[in-house]
Amino acid sequence: MKIAVFSSKPYDREYLGQYDDSGFAMTFFEARLDTSTAAMAQGFEVVCCFVNDDLNSATIKCLQKNGVKLIALRCAGFNNVDLAAAQQAGIKVCRVPAYSPHSVAEHALALLLSLNRNIHRAFNRVRENDYSLNGLLGFDLYKKTIGVIGTGKIGSVFVRIMRGLGCEVIACDPQPDEALKSLGIPYVGLTEIWRQADIISLHCPLQQDTFHMINEQAIASMKPGVTLINTSRGALIDTQAVIRGLKSARIGYLGLDVYEEEAGLFFEDQSNLLLQDDVFARLLTFPNVLITGHQGFFTKEALTGIAKTTLANIRAFAAKEYAAMELVTKS
Ligand code: NAI
Repeated sequence: MKIAVFSSKPYDREYLGQYDDSGFAMTFFEARLDTSTAAMAQGFEVVCCFVNDDLNSATIKCLQKNGVKLIALRCAGFNNVDLAAAQQAGIKVCRVPAYSPHSVAEHALALLLSLNRNIHRAFNRVRENDYSLNGLLGFDLYKKTIGVIGTGKIGSVFVRIMRGLGCEVIACDPQPDEALKSLGIPYVGLTEIWRQADIISLHCPLQQDTFHMINEQAIASMKPGVTLINTSRGALIDTQAVIRGLKSARIGYLGLDVYEEEAGLFFEDQSNLLLQDDVFARLLTFPNVLITGHQGFFTKEALTGIAKTTLANIRAFAAKEYAAMELVTKS
């Protein structure tokens, strides 16, 4: 089975190589897969892709023409794949639904704990020999109300972590988690989340009904000084609206691991280039904004899980054992 691994980094090579006991012929491309690079997949039966590869219908048509039979996503989210086009092209799509939900939930906590105590600013001050505390005043998380949107694998871990810190947690999910309900976590609508939460953390997928769920209107209904954390997908947030919310101080703190225009920006060393994205540049000017470049998944445990499941998916595909695959189909 010949596999073209797109958007590959040294760590992909290391982990996929380490857990490949089937001797697959893997070729690692640094390029992102999109319409302009899809021709590179010629002669490969499998393309292995990541979060910012753009598998729109034109890309998929090109993959089909080049003989690709499987899109093996090495991530959980599949919002970057046109599933209808894949189905029409007879190309199967599989993913890694769960690798380490703790990796992302703990990253959300890391963003939150850095912001509420201004750790990111304190780090810089101490390096400058500046030990003044003005401007670093924080707040306790204890007893604060945390609104968790999406309580699937990652969100439910985050809920338990926050409960452990003594927070009041409220949740919103069209499919409530029975175990969380039995712990006494109340499920409420979005309006109640906006109204009650001191801190809001997003853990739902990006789909039509969640696109820009954090918009002007939602922000206007939130508590003044609310903290927003997004480790899910960038386009859950209307960035322009959030910038206005930060300027008016309606949003007190913002922690992001994802950004709606992150494709082509994140995962690369751009330190010698001029930043062209003015919206992103504006975000970077706020002292109360902390951004990481989509690294929530980036732990040894998660990379191990990703490699093992991706390879198991491809092995099952090679053996035509489709029931054993983590297939994604258009619902
Ligand atoms: P999951 O599928 O286990 O859980 C998602 C939950 O969101 C489900 O319970 C679902 O019912 C709920 N949901 C769907 N629509 C909703 C809505 N309109 N409002 C509220 N809840 C809604 O997914 P998992 O594994 O917990 O991942 C969550 C998201 O985290 C993924 O979709 C992905 O985008 C993101 N992610 C980010 C990573 C990173 O490195 N920053 C790594 C892995 C995932």
